[in-house]
Amino acid sequence: SMQRWSAIEPNIAGSALQEAGAVLASGGIVAFPTETVYGLGADARNTSAVEAVFAAKGRPSDNPLIVHISQQNQLDSIVQRVLPLEQQLMNTFWPGPLTLVMPVIEGALSPRVTAGLDTVGVRMPDHPVALDLITAADCPLAAPSANRSGRPSPTTAAHVADDLAGRINGIVDGGSAGVGVESTVIQVEEDGRILILRPGGITREQLLTVADRVELDPALSGVAAETAPRAPGMKYTHYAPKGSMSIVTGEHMNEVAAFMQEQLIAAQARGERTGVLVFDEDNTVYEGSLRLTLGSLSHLEEAASRLYSQLREFDEAEITFILAQGCAEQGVGLAVMNRLYKAAGGQFIRV
Ligand code: TXA
Ligand code: MG
Repeated sequence: SMQRWSAIEPNIAGSALQEAGAVLASGGIVAFPTETVYGLGADARNTSAVEAVFAAKGRPSDNPLIVHISQQNQLDSIVQRVLPLEQQLMNTFWPGPLTLVMPVIEGALSPRVTAGLDTVGVRMPDHPVALDLITAADCPLAAPSANRSGRPSPTTAAHVADDLAGRINGIVDGGSAGVGVESTVIQVEEDGRILILRPGGITREQLLTVADRVELDPALSGVAAETAPRAPGMKYTHYAPKGSMSIVTGEHMNEVAAFMQEQLIAAQARGERTGVLVFDEDNTVYEGSLRLTLGSLSHLEEAASRLYSQLREFDEAEITFILAQGCAEQGVGLAVMNRLYKAAGGQFIRV
Protein backbone atom coordinates (compact mmCIF):
# COMPACT_ATOMS: atom_id res chain seq x y z
CA SER A 1 0.00 0.00 0.00
CA MET A 2 1.11 3.56 -0.70
CA GLN A 3 1.73 6.12 2.03
CA ARG A 4 1.11 9.83 1.59
CA TRP A 5 2.93 12.42 3.61
CA SER A 6 2.14 16.11 3.55
CA ALA A 7 5.11 18.43 3.77
CA ILE A 8 2.95 21.48 3.14
CA GLU A 9 2.08 21.95 6.83
CA PRO A 10 5.35 23.11 8.43
CA ASN A 11 4.34 21.76 11.87
CA ILE A 12 4.15 18.16 10.65
CA ALA A 13 6.75 18.29 7.86
CA GLY A 14 9.60 17.21 10.13
CA SER A 15 8.15 13.89 11.25
CA ALA A 16 6.68 13.19 7.79
CA LEU A 17 10.13 13.55 6.25
CA GLN A 18 11.70 11.33 8.95
CA GLU A 19 9.18 8.59 8.09
CA ALA A 20 9.62 8.96 4.34
CA GLY A 21 13.41 9.03 4.80
CA ALA A 22 13.26 5.78 6.78
CA VAL A 23 11.29 4.11 3.95
CA LEU A 24 14.00 5.19 1.49
CA ALA A 25 16.82 4.07 3.80
CA SER A 26 15.31 0.60 3.96
CA GLY A 27 15.09 0.21 0.17
CA GLY A 28 11.64 1.65 -0.56
CA ILE A 29 10.80 4.02 -3.42
CA VAL A 30 9.18 7.38 -2.60
CA ALA A 31 8.10 10.30 -4.82
CA PHE A 32 9.06 13.79 -3.63
CA PRO A 33 8.88 17.39 -4.84
CA THR A 34 11.83 19.26 -6.32
CA GLU A 35 11.96 22.78 -7.75
CA THR A 36 11.70 21.32 -11.29
CA VAL A 37 9.30 18.35 -11.29
CA TYR A 38 8.48 15.54 -8.84
CA GLY A 39 11.12 12.82 -8.64
CA LEU A 40 10.81 9.12 -7.78
CA GLY A 41 13.61 8.47 -5.29
CA ALA A 42 15.59 5.38 -4.31
CA ASP A 43 18.86 4.81 -2.42
CA ALA A 44 21.34 5.15 -5.32
CA ARG A 45 23.58 2.43 -3.81
CA ASN A 46 20.78 -0.16 -3.55
CA THR A 47 20.30 -2.11 -6.78
CA SER A 48 16.95 -3.67 -5.91
CA ALA A 49 15.54 -0.25 -4.94
CA VAL A 50 16.83 1.26 -8.19
CA GLU A 51 15.36 -1.65 -10.17
CA ALA A 52 12.01 -0.98 -8.48
CA VAL A 53 12.15 2.60 -9.81
CA PHE A 54 12.68 1.39 -13.40
CA ALA A 55 9.84 -1.13 -12.97
CA ALA A 56 7.37 1.39 -11.49
CA LYS A 57 8.02 3.84 -14.32
CA GLY A 58 8.23 1.26 -17.11
CA ARG A 59 11.51 2.96 -18.02
CA PRO A 60 14.00 1.49 -20.53
CA SER A 61 17.02 0.23 -18.55
CA ASP A 62 19.57 1.92 -20.86
CA ASN A 63 18.47 5.37 -19.63
CA PRO A 64 20.56 6.44 -16.59
CA LEU A 65 19.15 8.21 -13.50
CA ILE A 66 20.19 11.52 -11.93
CA VAL A 67 21.62 11.31 -8.40
CA HIS A 68 20.39 13.93 -5.90
CA ILE A 69 22.50 15.14 -2.98
CA SER A 70 21.87 17.64 -0.20
CA GLN A 71 25.48 18.53 0.63
CA GLN A 72 28.50 19.06 -1.60
CA ASN A 73 30.72 16.73 0.47
CA GLN A 74 28.49 13.80 -0.60
CA LEU A 75 30.12 14.21 -4.03
CA ASP A 76 33.49 13.00 -2.74
CA SER A 77 32.26 9.41 -2.49
CA ILE A 78 30.48 9.50 -5.88
CA VAL A 79 32.68 11.20 -8.52
CA GLN A 80 36.36 10.73 -9.36
CA ARG A 81 37.18 14.43 -9.60
CA VAL A 82 35.63 17.89 -9.79
CA LEU A 83 37.18 20.29 -12.35
CA PRO A 84 37.61 23.95 -11.30
CA LEU A 85 34.91 25.03 -13.79
CA GLU A 86 32.54 22.36 -12.43
CA GLN A 87 33.19 23.64 -8.91
CA GLN A 88 32.44 27.18 -10.06
CA LEU A 89 29.18 26.03 -11.68
CA MET A 90 28.12 24.28 -8.47
CA ASN A 91 28.97 27.35 -6.39
CA THR A 92 26.89 29.50 -8.73
CA PHE A 93 23.88 27.30 -9.50
CA TRP A 94 23.52 24.81 -6.62
CA PRO A 95 21.13 24.21 -5.08
CA GLY A 96 19.27 24.50 -8.39
CA PRO A 97 18.17 22.92 -11.68
CA LEU A 98 21.64 22.05 -13.02
CA THR A 99 22.84 18.44 -13.39
CA LEU A 100 26.56 17.84 -13.99
CA VAL A 101 27.70 14.64 -15.69
CA MET A 102 31.03 13.58 -14.17
CA PRO A 103 33.22 10.43 -14.07
CA VAL A 104 31.76 8.05 -11.48
CA ILE A 105 33.82 6.14 -8.89
CA GLU A 106 33.45 2.48 -9.81
CA GLY A 107 31.36 0.62 -7.24
CA ALA A 108 30.14 3.77 -5.47
CA LEU A 109 26.60 3.45 -6.84
CA SER A 110 24.39 0.70 -8.16
CA PRO A 111 25.43 0.05 -11.78
CA ARG A 112 21.73 0.35 -12.68
CA VAL A 113 21.87 4.09 -11.85
CA THR A 114 24.44 4.82 -14.54
CA ALA A 115 23.08 2.24 -17.00
CA GLY A 116 26.60 0.97 -17.53
CA LEU A 117 28.14 4.40 -18.39
CA ASP A 118 31.38 5.49 -16.69
CA THR A 119 29.76 8.83 -15.79
CA VAL A 120 26.98 9.90 -13.44
CA GLY A 121 24.67 12.94 -13.47
CA VAL A 122 24.48 14.69 -10.07
CA ARG A 123 22.45 17.62 -8.84
CA MET A 124 21.47 19.41 -5.61
CA PRO A 125 17.77 20.35 -5.85
CA ASP A 126 16.64 23.79 -4.68
CA HIS A 127 13.67 22.61 -2.64
CA PRO A 128 13.59 22.44 1.18
CA VAL A 129 11.53 19.22 1.19
CA ALA A 130 13.88 17.47 -1.25
CA LEU A 131 16.96 18.58 0.71
CA ASP A 132 15.51 17.55 4.08
CA LEU A 133 14.37 14.20 2.66
CA ILE A 134 17.84 13.40 1.28
CA THR A 135 19.32 14.29 4.65
CA ALA A 136 16.70 12.17 6.48
CA ALA A 137 17.35 9.18 4.20
CA ASP A 138 21.10 9.72 4.74
CA CYS A 139 22.03 8.51 1.24
CA PRO A 140 22.29 9.89 -2.29
CA LEU A 141 18.89 9.51 -4.01
CA ALA A 142 18.65 8.29 -7.58
CA ALA A 143 15.52 9.97 -8.89
CA PRO A 144 14.05 10.21 -12.37
CA SER A 145 10.87 12.22 -12.90
CA ALA A 146 7.97 10.48 -11.11
CA ASN A 147 5.81 9.77 -14.18
CA ARG A 148 5.10 6.58 -16.11
CA SER A 149 7.63 6.50 -18.96
CA GLY A 150 6.26 8.44 -21.96
CA ARG A 151 3.80 10.53 -19.91
CA PRO A 152 4.35 14.25 -19.22
CA SER A 153 6.52 14.79 -16.11
CA PRO A 154 4.54 15.42 -12.88
CA THR A 155 4.46 18.90 -11.35
CA THR A 156 2.01 18.02 -8.54
CA ALA A 157 1.55 15.10 -6.13
CA ALA A 158 -1.81 14.40 -7.84
CA HIS A 159 -0.02 13.87 -11.18
CA VAL A 160 2.29 11.37 -9.46
CA ALA A 161 -0.67 9.51 -7.95
CA ASP A 162 -2.44 9.41 -11.34
CA ASP A 163 0.56 7.64 -12.88
CA LEU A 164 2.09 5.61 -10.04
CA ALA A 165 -0.50 4.90 -7.29
CA GLY A 166 -0.08 1.29 -6.18
CA ARG A 167 3.34 1.01 -7.84
CA ILE A 168 5.43 2.93 -5.28
CA ASN A 169 5.80 3.01 -1.49
CA GLY A 170 4.83 6.62 -0.95
CA ILE A 171 4.48 10.25 -2.04
CA VAL A 172 5.63 13.32 -0.15
CA ASP A 173 3.29 16.17 -1.12
CA GLY A 174 5.08 19.51 -1.19
CA GLY A 175 2.66 21.42 -3.41
CA SER A 176 3.33 22.45 -7.01
CA ALA A 177 6.85 22.26 -8.43
CA GLY A 178 7.93 25.77 -9.43
CA VAL A 179 10.17 25.64 -12.52
CA GLY A 180 8.04 23.02 -14.27
CA VAL A 181 10.64 21.64 -16.69
CA GLU A 182 13.50 19.37 -15.64
CA SER A 183 17.06 20.38 -14.80
CA THR A 184 19.62 21.33 -17.42
CA VAL A 185 22.01 18.39 -17.94
CA ILE A 186 25.55 19.44 -18.87
CA GLN A 187 29.00 17.96 -19.30
CA VAL A 188 32.19 20.01 -18.96
CA GLU A 189 34.69 18.99 -21.66
CA GLU A 190 38.45 18.71 -21.06
CA ASP A 191 38.94 21.86 -23.19
CA GLY A 192 36.62 23.92 -20.94
CA ARG A 193 33.58 23.86 -23.19
CA ILE A 194 30.20 23.25 -21.60
CA LEU A 195 28.00 20.90 -23.56
CA ILE A 196 24.24 21.06 -22.86
CA LEU A 197 22.93 17.50 -23.11
CA ARG A 198 19.38 18.49 -22.11
CA PRO A 199 18.14 22.11 -21.91
CA GLY A 200 16.25 22.89 -18.69
CA GLY A 201 15.78 25.24 -15.76
CA ILE A 202 19.25 26.84 -15.89
CA THR A 203 19.49 28.66 -19.21
CA ARG A 204 22.33 28.77 -21.72
CA GLU A 205 22.51 32.52 -21.05
CA GLN A 206 23.02 31.86 -17.31
CA LEU A 207 25.79 29.33 -18.05
CA LEU A 208 27.49 31.94 -20.27
CA THR A 209 27.93 34.16 -17.21
CA VAL A 210 30.36 31.53 -15.86
CA ALA A 211 31.93 30.04 -19.03
CA ASP A 212 32.91 31.43 -22.44
CA ARG A 213 31.80 28.48 -24.51
CA VAL A 214 28.42 26.82 -23.98
CA GLU A 215 27.21 24.58 -26.79
CA LEU A 216 24.14 22.45 -27.40
CA ASP A 217 24.72 18.73 -27.95
CA PRO A 218 24.46 18.68 -31.78
CA ALA A 219 22.15 15.66 -31.49
CA LEU A 220 19.48 17.95 -29.99
CA SER A 221 18.99 20.16 -33.03
CA GLY A 222 15.83 18.48 -34.22
CA VAL A 223 15.21 16.75 -37.53
CA ALA A 224 18.71 17.38 -38.84
CA ALA A 225 20.29 15.42 -35.98
CA GLU A 226 22.01 12.27 -37.12
CA THR A 227 24.24 11.50 -34.15
CA ALA A 228 22.98 9.78 -30.99
CA PRO A 229 22.33 12.19 -28.13
CA ARG A 230 24.78 11.93 -25.23
CA ALA A 231 21.96 11.99 -22.69
CA PRO A 232 20.39 8.63 -23.54
CA GLY A 233 16.95 9.86 -22.40
CA MET A 234 16.81 12.46 -25.15
CA LYS A 235 16.28 9.82 -27.85
CA TYR A 236 12.92 8.67 -26.52
CA THR A 237 9.59 10.29 -27.45
CA HIS A 238 8.97 11.62 -23.97
CA TYR A 239 6.33 13.85 -22.51
CA ALA A 240 3.83 12.71 -25.09
CA PRO A 241 0.17 13.58 -24.78
CA LYS A 242 -2.17 10.82 -26.01
CA GLY A 243 -3.41 12.87 -28.98
CA SER A 244 -1.28 13.70 -32.00
CA MET A 245 0.38 17.08 -31.60
CA SER A 246 2.09 19.50 -33.99
CA ILE A 247 3.98 22.71 -33.24
CA VAL A 248 3.08 25.70 -35.40
CA THR A 249 5.42 28.69 -35.64
CA GLY A 250 5.68 31.71 -37.91
CA GLU A 251 6.77 35.30 -38.20
CA HIS A 252 3.28 36.75 -37.63
CA MET A 253 0.80 35.63 -34.96
CA ASN A 254 -2.24 36.37 -37.18
CA GLU A 255 -0.92 34.11 -39.95
CA VAL A 256 -0.16 31.34 -37.47
CA ALA A 257 -3.67 31.66 -36.01
CA ALA A 258 -5.36 31.65 -39.44
CA PHE A 259 -3.42 28.52 -40.42
CA MET A 260 -4.36 26.80 -37.16
CA GLN A 261 -8.03 27.72 -37.58
CA GLU A 262 -8.06 26.07 -41.02
CA GLN A 263 -6.31 22.89 -39.81
CA LEU A 264 -8.64 22.58 -36.81
CA ILE A 265 -11.79 22.87 -38.93
CA ALA A 266 -10.44 20.18 -41.27
CA ALA A 267 -9.55 17.94 -38.31
CA GLN A 268 -13.02 18.38 -36.78
CA ALA A 269 -14.54 17.40 -40.13
CA ARG A 270 -12.55 14.13 -39.89
CA GLY A 271 -14.05 13.51 -36.45
CA GLU A 272 -11.05 14.57 -34.33
CA ARG A 273 -11.47 16.11 -30.86
CA THR A 274 -9.30 19.21 -31.21
CA GLY A 275 -7.26 21.32 -28.81
CA VAL A 276 -4.91 24.30 -29.01
CA LEU A 277 -1.98 25.28 -26.80
CA VAL A 278 -1.51 29.01 -27.26
CA PHE A 279 0.12 32.11 -25.79
CA ASP A 280 -1.91 35.01 -24.38
CA GLU A 281 -0.86 37.23 -27.28
CA ASP A 282 -3.16 35.16 -29.52
CA ASN A 283 -6.78 36.11 -28.78
CA THR A 284 -8.35 34.05 -31.58
CA VAL A 285 -11.53 32.10 -30.75
CA TYR A 286 -10.89 28.56 -31.96
CA GLU A 287 -14.44 27.27 -32.31
CA GLY A 288 -14.92 23.70 -31.04
CA SER A 289 -11.36 23.34 -29.68
CA LEU A 290 -10.18 23.06 -26.07
CA ARG A 291 -8.04 26.18 -25.64
CA LEU A 292 -5.23 26.01 -23.07
CA THR A 293 -2.69 28.77 -22.58
CA LEU A 294 0.98 28.88 -21.60
CA GLY A 295 0.76 32.52 -20.50
CA SER A 296 2.50 35.44 -22.18
CA LEU A 297 5.33 35.14 -24.71
CA SER A 298 7.16 37.71 -22.61
CA HIS A 299 7.11 35.47 -19.46
CA LEU A 300 8.36 32.10 -20.66
CA GLU A 301 9.01 30.98 -17.06
CA GLU A 302 5.24 30.71 -16.81
CA ALA A 303 5.11 28.58 -19.97
CA ALA A 304 7.68 26.24 -18.41
CA SER A 305 5.74 25.93 -15.18
CA ARG A 306 2.42 25.23 -16.95
CA LEU A 307 3.54 23.05 -19.84
CA TYR A 308 3.24 19.54 -18.39
CA SER A 309 -0.02 20.11 -16.52
CA GLN A 310 -1.57 21.49 -19.72
CA LEU A 311 -0.44 18.42 -21.69
CA ARG A 312 -2.12 16.27 -19.03
CA GLU A 313 -5.31 18.37 -19.39
CA PHE A 314 -5.52 17.45 -23.08
CA ASP A 315 -5.37 13.78 -22.10
CA GLU A 316 -8.12 14.18 -19.48
CA ALA A 317 -10.36 15.79 -22.11
CA GLU A 318 -9.52 12.96 -24.57
CA ILE A 319 -8.27 15.39 -27.20
CA THR A 320 -6.98 13.57 -30.29
CA PHE A 321 -5.56 16.46 -32.35
CA ILE A 322 -3.49 19.28 -30.79
CA LEU A 323 -1.86 22.33 -32.36
CA ALA A 324 0.70 24.09 -30.16
CA GLN A 325 2.20 27.51 -30.79
CA GLY A 326 5.99 27.76 -30.59
CA CYS A 327 8.06 30.41 -28.80
CA ALA A 328 11.56 31.88 -29.14
CA GLU A 329 14.34 29.48 -28.15
CA GLN A 330 15.77 32.01 -25.71
CA GLY A 331 16.15 31.72 -21.96
CA VAL A 332 13.94 28.95 -20.63
CA GLY A 333 12.17 29.06 -24.04
CA LEU A 334 14.89 26.69 -25.27
CA ALA A 335 13.74 24.03 -22.76
CA VAL A 336 10.05 24.72 -23.46
CA MET A 337 10.58 24.24 -27.22
CA ASN A 338 12.69 21.12 -26.63
CA ARG A 339 9.87 19.53 -24.57
CA LEU A 340 7.17 20.67 -27.02
CA TYR A 341 9.21 19.26 -29.88
CA LYS A 342 9.48 15.91 -28.13
CA ALA A 343 5.80 15.91 -27.14
CA ALA A 344 4.99 16.48 -30.80
CA GLY A 345 7.23 13.62 -31.89
CA GLY A 346 9.06 16.10 -34.10
CA GLN A 347 5.94 17.29 -36.02
CA PHE A 348 6.71 20.92 -36.76
CA ILE A 349 5.00 23.32 -39.17
CA ARG A 350 6.43 26.71 -40.13
CA VAL A 351 3.77 29.01 -41.57
O1 TXA B 1 14.89 18.06 -12.87
C1 TXA B 1 15.28 16.89 -13.01
O2 TXA B 1 16.40 16.63 -13.50
C2 TXA B 1 14.35 15.77 -12.54
C3 TXA B 1 14.15 15.92 -11.03
C4 TXA B 1 13.38 14.78 -10.45
O3 TXA B 1 15.41 16.06 -10.43
N1 TXA B 1 14.88 14.49 -12.89
C5 TXA B 1 14.88 14.00 -14.17
O4 TXA B 1 15.38 12.73 -14.30
O5 TXA B 1 14.49 14.65 -15.11
P1 TXA B 1 15.14 11.84 -15.60
O6 TXA B 1 15.64 10.49 -15.25
O7 TXA B 1 13.71 11.92 -16.03
O8 TXA B 1 16.10 12.44 -16.68
C6 TXA B 1 17.51 12.26 -16.58
C7 TXA B 1 18.17 12.71 -17.85
C8 TXA B 1 17.96 11.72 -18.98
O9 TXA B 1 17.81 12.41 -20.21
C9 TXA B 1 19.25 10.92 -18.93
O10 TXA B 1 19.53 10.32 -20.16
C10 TXA B 1 20.26 12.00 -18.55
O11 TXA B 1 19.58 12.81 -17.63
N2 TXA B 1 21.45 11.42 -17.88
C11 TXA B 1 21.51 10.88 -16.65
N3 TXA B 1 22.75 10.41 -16.40
C12 TXA B 1 23.49 10.67 -17.49
C13 TXA B 1 24.85 10.42 -17.86
N4 TXA B 1 25.71 9.79 -17.05
N5 TXA B 1 25.28 10.82 -19.08
C14 TXA B 1 24.43 11.46 -19.92
N6 TXA B 1 23.12 11.71 -19.63
C15 TXA B 1 22.67 11.33 -18.43
MG1 MG C 1 11.85 12.11 -17.15
